[in-house]
Amino acid sequence: MSMVKVLLIGDASREHAIADAFARSNHEPKLYAVMSRRNPGIAKLCKQRGGDIAIGNINDPQFVVKAAKDFHVDFAFVGPEEPLFHGVADALEEAGIPCVGAKRQMALVEMSKAFMRRLMWKYKVPGRLKFKAFKSLEDAIAYVNEYAESVAIKPARQAGGKGVKVIADLQVYLSKEKREVKAEHVKTVYEKHMAVYDDIDDKVLIEERVEGPEYTLQVFTDGRTVLSLPAVQDNKNAYEMDIGPETGGMGSIAGPGWLLPFLTEEEYKQSVEIVQGVVDALWKETGVRYKGVISGQMMLTALWGPTIIEFYSRFGDPEACNVLPYMETDIVEISEAIIDERLNTIKMNFPNIATVVKAVAPKGYPDHRDLAKGHPALIDEDAIKKRGCKVYYGSLDEKPDGTIVTAGSRIAEIVAAASTIPEASELAESCIQYVKLLDGWDVFHRSDIGSEVLLKKRIEQAQLIREIYHYRMSKGLIGKTIDWIPGRGKIEYEF
Ligand code: GLY
Repeated sequence: MSMVKVLLIGDASREHAIADAFARSNHEPKLYAVMSRRNPGIAKLCKQRGGDIAIGNINDPQFVVKAAKDFHVDFAFVGPEEPLFHGVADALEEAGIPCVGAKRQMALVEMSKAFMRRLMWKYKVPGRLKFKAFKSLEDAIAYVNEYAESVAIKPARQAGGKGVKVIADLQVYLSKEKREVKAEHVKTVYEKHMAVYDDIDDKVLIEERVEGPEYTLQVFTDGRTVLSLPAVQDNKNAYEMDIGPETGGMGSIAGPGWLLPFLTEEEYKQSVEIVQGVVDALWKETGVRYKGVISGQMMLTALWGPTIIEFYSRFGDPEACNVLPYMETDIVEISEAIIDERLNTIKMNFPNIATVVKAVAPKGYPDHRDLAKGHPALIDEDAIKKRGCKVYYGSLDEKPDGTIVTAGSRIAEIVAAASTIPEASELAESCIQYVKLLDGWDVFHRSDIGSEVLLKKRIEQAQLIREIYHYRMSKGLIGKTIDWIPGRGKIEYEF
């Protein structure tokens, strides 16, 4: 077996989990990484696996190609979305270096929410929401002023998960106020969240409002076959019981096995079909094969059943950390099959376990990242391993003298596996004490993720949604948005 050389692009916990999966491969690849800062976990694995690292702008295709050439790698694997949006996969391929990571045109499925919605409607992929996309602020405001519906208002580009507001507009006596709130938020999206981007034309996306439990379906794809992983549920709010600002994700649950306690086998299968439908649609639309990872960030809704909220052109973070450490299929074999477009020959093997990931973040995250930066951190990896758990380093920077300082986001993700989610949650909980900041600055995490109480809440919510969905199906109301507004009567929305 010849020694494979792999280049990993990225520096968060997700990329540490990807690096760990390569380090566990039976093919014993040499591992290299390009990072914007030195993630100590990834740097250590690269050293152990006979490779090296380069620090620089991972969104700069020239820098990444140069590192790939200097290291003479056989292929690259891209972790985060921004390098994909900046054409890193295209540049690597042009330089003759195969890449597991979507080309820019494919990554539009995440970068442009309007492109994704138009694609789903054009190819009639199930689980699509009605939407309107606006290029001009005036048109978007005119729209929210004219229609009274309940909507989600979002930046039309992927903007680091920020700027999404869901507004229920059901009380006629508040309609004026609600319209003002909507118009105000449209302005914020336009002037704040979208102001820093000039790479897509659409600015504001307005979608019909849906409710329900969310989950992420992550798959590998070669543009023909999708190889799905167990469903995972991320928890985005910063504080316990889903309170507080939205974060990149404070922790996630999966299992036991392929499902979640609130997701049926049929719903899982429908979710896989939706992601497959979008991969097929991308091929029909562009004639290009999507080679990499694509994840449906989904919601179980009464309107459509399994529904796409957005797509990721990558693994979710923390969701990657639920599945990659326990995946039994070799990541080198998966990557090579993606590159050669023979993913249909690979079977995904996964043990029948439940997993819980808990992120530990410095106080100040997510809204005051400057305060959350620059604190020296200590992670007792040995103590975490002794408890049978794993830890992936996150937003940390290792300085030349060996000190590790926070970079403003989630410091680390602790991963635990057990036969049930609550057991895995307790195990992960017992390791939180081993992530510390040495200057006394506080860290926080969510102890409720994976708890019986939160699971019960999710299961009850799913049961109610499922019941309404089946009722709607029996009445031929799938996909129809109807509100009853006192004083105005029944309103069926024309998006
Ligand atoms: N966990 C959400 C994300 O990866 O964007």
